[in-house]
Amino acid sequence: MIEFDHISMAYAPKAPLALSDLSFRIQDGEFVFVIGQSGSGKSTLVKLLTCEEKPSAGEVYIDGLALTQLKRRLVPYLRRSIGMVFQDFRLIPTKTVYENVAFAMEILGASRRSISRQVSMVLSTVGLRSRERALPNELSGGEQQRVGIARAMVNNPSILLADEPTGNLDPVNSESIMALLEEINRNGTTVVVCTHDREMVDRMQKRVIEIADGRLLRDATRALYGSGDKYLLDIEPAAVPVSEPAGQDQATAQPAETGQPPQNHRDKLFTSYDYYYKRKSR
Ligand SMILES: Nc1ncnc2c1ncn2[C@@H]1O[C@H](COP(=O)(O)OP(=O)(O)O)[C@@H](O)[C@H]1O
Ligand SMILES: [Mg+2]
Repeated sequence: MIEFDHISMAYAPKAPLALSDLSFRIQDGEFVFVIGQSGSGKSTLVKLLTCEEKPSAGEVYIDGLALTQLKRRLVPYLRRSIGMVFQDFRLIPTKTVYENVAFAMEILGASRRSISRQVSMVLSTVGLRSRERALPNELSGGEQQRVGIARAMVNNPSILLADEPTGNLDPVNSESIMALLEEINRNGTTVVVCTHDREMVDRMQKRVIEIADGRLLRDATRALYGSGDKYLLDIEPAAVPVSEPAGQDQATAQPAETGQPPQNHRDKLFTSYDYYYKRKSR
């Protein structure tokens, strides 16, 4: 379970609050949209979950673990249980589709055999098995985001966090990416999608946590985004979806067999990504 307990967060001591007294819970297996205009605090919420930022007040819990209490050396373990999907895909341009996905396992020290099995499985799930030798720039935006999702899922995280995953995609590709996230959720992964795409949220009819200026505006089950004032401030308890039996052919239904890699390898997770992506974006 994810819990935000009276979270306030400012990026600097005198800066305005990016999040303000925000509280909600997300149960295991839920599919939740976090919506709000640009600057409302969606990405800040994501960064608190991945311990990239710390709250100024309040506490974030994942499975009962208070994140502000988490020792720095344990942060990579937490991140290992969270798959991240980004608006700009963040693929490594010189690596093939296969290598991009495999990299997320390599930095955990997984064996070549388990990498091969697991990468093939997630690439099948996202429908890109036949493109595994392609480079990112040989793929459409929608396909690149599928690779991003495969990479996020390859270590079998219990939570998938997607920050504006369809922000760079056309409506057709956006829809298929959302269908894929829905399928991943059906297989038991908790899925949290930050977006300001009203049309898509309306279509999907999932739980919506809406924030405005860092405050909770609405938390509604099967809500429509901005469908009239009657929905605003209409705070309902969110239902926990009844989990459906997982399909036999779904990669995400099967546990990873990545073994127990040495801790120093695990610690490289995300720090390697962060290093790479920060360096690239300079
Ligand atoms: N690294 C940062 N340093 C200072 N202020 C930031 C930083 N990141 C975001 N903010 C501010 O925090 C607020 C929330 O931003 P953000 O969480 O990125 O919103 P969203 O993802 O909904 O667009 C905004 O006012 C933004 O300017
Ligand atoms: Mg954002």
